[in-house]
Parts: sequence; C-alpha cells; structure tokens
Amino acid sequence: MEIKNRIAVVTGAASGIGRAVCENLADHGVKTIGMVDMNEEVTAAADTINRTFNKKVAVPFTGNTTDSEFRSKVYDTLDREHGTVSICVPCAGITRDALAVKIDKETGKSIIYPEEKFRFVIEVNLLAPIYWAMEMVARIAEDRARKGLRQWRPEERVQGTVIFIGSVSSQGNKGQISYATTKAGLEGAAATLTKEAIYHGVRCGVIHPGYTDTPMVRALGEEFIKKNILQYTQLGRLITTEEIADAIRFMISNSAVSGELWADAGWHPAPA
Ligand SMILES: NC(=O)c1ccc[n+]([C@@H]2O[C@H](COP(=O)([O-])OP(=O)(O)OC[C@H]3O[C@@H](n4cnc5c(N)ncnc54)[C@H](O)[C@@H]3O)[C@@H](O)[C@H]2O)c1
Repeated sequence: MEIKNRIAVVTGAASGIGRAVCENLADHGVKTIGMVDMNEEVTAAADTINRTFNKKVAVPFTGNTTDSEFRSKVYDTLDREHGTVSICVPCAGITRDALAVKIDKETGKSIIYPEEKFRFVIEVNLLAPIYWAMEMVARIAEDRARKGLRQWRPEERVQGTVIFIGSVSSQGNKGQISYATTKAGLEGAAATLTKEAIYHGVRCGVIHPGYTDTPMVRALGEEFIKKNILQYTQLGRLITTEEIADAIRFMISNSAVSGELWADAGWHPAPA
C-alpha cells in the first residue's frame, strides 16, 4: 500500500513504540499523523517531529483512548481538516501484572487477580484498539458508499490498513493474566476484521513485538530485565523502538503481508 500522502492515526504516540511509529511514518511521507495520547507530552513529541521534518505532519490530541466521544472527535477533526484516515496503529497499552492466583503467606488464603483491574486492562488494551480500528473502517466504508462504491475490487487502491500491537505475551506469560489475554484477544479481532473489512478495501494485521526498550519495559527494573529477559532473547538485548516501527511500516506498505508478524529478537522463554 502506498503510504505517501496518507492520513494516519497512532495512539500511545507520546512514548515508546507509538512515538517511533509516528517518526517512521513521517519519514516515509505520510501527510498527516493524528498523535493520540492521554499524556500531554504528546504535544512536545508532535512538535519535535514537525521540527525534524520541517513540515506540519504531526497533529497532537490529548485524551483517553477508552473515551468514545474523544475518539469520534479525533476522527472528525482529521477528516475535516486533512482527509479520510487510512492508517490506524492503536499502540496505547498498559500492564497491570500479578499472578492469576496466589496464596497469602500470612493468612494461607488464596488471592485471585482483581476483576476490576482485569476489566480496566481489557478496556485499554483490547476494546479501545478494536474501536479505534473499526472507526477507521466505518469512515472508509461511508466514504466509498457516498461515491456509490460497493464491494472493494483489486482495481481500486487499498483503502486502508490497521496494525494491532500484540505481544510475545499473547502466548502466555507468568504474571500477565490480563495483559496476555488482551494481546491474544487482538488476534481474534484482527482475524475477523481481516475477513470483514476487505469488503471496504481495508487490510488488518497484528505485530507481536518482543521485549522492546520503552518506559513500559524499563519499569521492570535492570535486574529483572537481565535475569528474565536478556538471556532468553537470541539477540541478547532489548529490541529498539525503531526496529518495531520499521516492521510496522513494512506491514502497512507491503500489501502482500497479511496475518501476524513476530518481531521478537528470538524470544525463547524458559519453561515454567
Ligand atoms: N515495550 C515492549 O516490550 C512491548 C512488547 C510488546 C508489545 N508492546 C505493546 O506496545 C504498545 C506500546 O507500548 P510501549 O512499550 O511503547 O509503552 P509506553 O508505556 O512507552 O507507551 C504507551 C503510551 O500509551 C499511553 N496510554 C496508555 N493508556 C492510554 C489511554 N487509555 N489513552 C491514551 N493513551 C494511553 C501512555 O500515556 C504512553 O504514552 C502497547 O500496546 C504494549 O502493550 C510493548
């Protein structure tokens, strides 16, 4: 898919992988990138990109991705001022790690992972990315319907691409019952959208990054990273955000790529 002059939406754009995706897309000629994050740092991140590329390519939006009114507002603004969004990379994500079930050493009672926390992780990591993606598909569908177009045909150019951010944890990871569930859930959403959205000319895929050098992973601490991550990664180092962004841009721009891409630096975790 030709990405030059497209309009993109990237969530989680203030930091880590989302921010690197914005830089990469700007470098490859995307016309406008809606940079979405609840952290106000997103404005400074957009300014930096605009200065680096010497054009107004990045447009910051501060808000919560789980807020559907905010989501509509972002798409409405981009539609009105720039054009129909045709690249969606919903990166915003969180971890709330704890064992699924553990025994309290003092009382001997079991503690089950809190439901409220689980629901919150599902809202942010699973529902929100799916709705940001469906919002793009919906607007492309309406746009084509207005033009009297029905089922997409290969003679038309590809109308849009969604790349969800999975994780190596989607295959299961100790202490990540909620996170792993949401990342595996995205596979089902992508597989379904892949079948449905191509009616409107939209492709859909999932990238599964391994441990990448971002604040999310640095928060685990040097000791944890050394003991539990680096020795199980063939490259012996964390992946850079630029490497993941490059893989995402490849998935967007090469329309022959479908399904899931594992960008895990040779992750081979120890048996439980
Ligand atoms: N870093 C890794 O090793 C790794 C590996 C696999 C997958 N991922 C996934 O990549 C994505 C990005 O992770 P990262 O490591 O760059 O994290 P990060 O913490 O550096 O960045 C995440 C960004 O998302 C924003 N965010 C979180 N919740 C939000 C919400 N509800 N609304 C708006 N913004 C919100 C945060 O403010 C932050 O700027 C996540 O989906 C994560 O699960 C990361």
